[in-house]
Amino acid sequence: MKAMKILVFFLCCLPLKPALSRHSRYHAIFSLGDSHSDTGNYPRTEAVAFQVIKSLPYGETFFRNATGRCSDGRLIVDFIAEAFGLPYLPPYLAVAKGPHVRIRKGVNFAVAGASAINSSFFSAQKIALWTNDSLSVQLGWFKNLKSSLCTTEQECDEYFKKSLFLVGEIGENDYNFPALSGQSIKQLRALVPLVVGAITRAVSMLIEEGAVDLMVPGQLPVGCTSMFLTVFQSANESAYDNRTGCLKAYDAFFKYHNNYLKQELQNLREQYPHARIMYADYYGAAMTIYRSPKHYGFYGGTPRACCGGGGPHNFNTTAVCGQTGATACKDPSAFMDWDGIHFTESAYHHIAKGMINGGFTSPPLLS
Ligand SMILES: *[C@@H]1O[C@H](CO)[C@@H](O)[C@H](O)[C@H]1NC(C)=O
Ligand SMILES: *[C@@H]1O[C@H](CO)[C@@H](O)[C@H](O)[C@H]1NC(C)=O
Ligand SMILES: *[C@@H]1O[C@H](CO)[C@@H](O)[C@H](O)[C@H]1NC(C)=O
Ligand SMILES: *[C@@H]1O[C@H](CO)[C@@H](O)[C@H](O)[C@H]1NC(C)=O
Ligand SMILES: *[C@@H]1O[C@H](CO)[C@@H](O)[C@H](O)[C@H]1NC(C)=O
Ligand SMILES: *[C@@H]1O[C@H](CO)[C@@H](O)[C@H](O)[C@H]1NC(C)=O
Repeated sequence: MKAMKILVFFLCCLPLKPALSRHSRYHAIFSLGDSHSDTGNYPRTEAVAFQVIKSLPYGETFFRNATGRCSDGRLIVDFIAEAFGLPYLPPYLAVAKGPHVRIRKGVNFAVAGASAINSSFFSAQKIALWTNDSLSVQLGWFKNLKSSLCTTEQECDEYFKKSLFLVGEIGENDYNFPALSGQSIKQLRALVPLVVGAITRAVSMLIEEGAVDLMVPGQLPVGCTSMFLTVFQSANESAYDNRTGCLKAYDAFFKYHNNYLKQELQNLREQYPHARIMYADYYGAAMTIYRSPKHYGFYGGTPRACCGGGGPHNFNTTAVCGQTGATACKDPSAFMDWDGIHFTESAYHHIAKGMINGGFTSPPLLS
């Protein structure tokens, strides 16, 4: 009992030992994106669609309290911060609302539900997003904060040269919301140039502001999520990948986005030869786990959410994680899928390892 208390104290109160301190080339991390990287902005906005993340079981595994993260614990950005011996990034909206928050080692601008394209594009089509804090709004926040981080151009250049910029993952919501409102995969394909254009404009803008090292993740295999498997279920067996149980057509679509993004990043590398633009293959890292879940300590079989309201994938649109009628599994570390759309801490940890030392970034994050 006493040992347990001490362990909890150590976990919560001491700075984490930098696992890769010898590689600590970064003194700060700045992150933009959506719910896969939001560390607490969404609950600090006026938006109300996704209130469930404000309470347990969200956060139950690591922080033992809800932090606004869409998982039971840490996210990829948290594991990357740990790897470079840096603190967990404070959410920008906590910084904006309180002078006590330390920002020198980085800030997180990501907001759950955010899109890469401006939200007005979707509202014009009567598609209601969960937030209007799209990528361009997050970039505006970064510009606002810049004068508090550094003043002269030389000082900013020196500081940003030692910073890592995570641009995403972003774009999944640009596809999910239209798909859930009935748009076909063919219609989604027409959005890809716009989504990738918004991402590459963000990368260019950050480089113009002084960023040198940028990591730009692609999409995850969203056709493997319990939400997609439930909402887009098919009686036709050939709709499913027989190795993973994932929806082939949706995964092929998200791969199409990734290939388009990779091409555009190559163009940016030619345009900005001094910058180090890394593509992060979230899809490949996650798919490796879906193909051999047991190897990573997960249950095998068809993907299933840890926290949900029943059904073959434990995803029920009328009882989602955090709502009445939904319950969380006993051991989230045995599940990849946390709430039907986001991953468990355990899955995010494996994906992060794929980025930090597993060869799923090109060029590599550590070199
Ligand atoms: C847990 O989170 C709630 C709301 O986010 C907050 O009011 C409370 O103080 C937190 N508790 C602890 C022990 O951190
Ligand atoms: C998106 O909104 C920003 C303001 O937040 C604006 O400056 C920009 O021009 C808009 N982009 C597009 C493509 O409409
Ligand atoms: C986003 O903006 C639209 C148009 O101004 C508004 O109707 C909607 O309520 C806003 N959504 C959120 C989540 O704030
Ligand atoms: C099942 O899907 C495949 C392609 O995914 C298609 O060729 C076939 O016609 C479909 N079968 C039925 C019965 O709809
Ligand atoms: C899985 O599907 C592929 C085609 O997509 C087929 O070639 C293979 O035989 C199938 N494997 C099993 C075990 O059904
Ligand atoms: C989904 O949740 C509703 C409300 O809790 C419940 O009535 C229904 O039986 C659930 N569906 C499944 C498939 O579990």
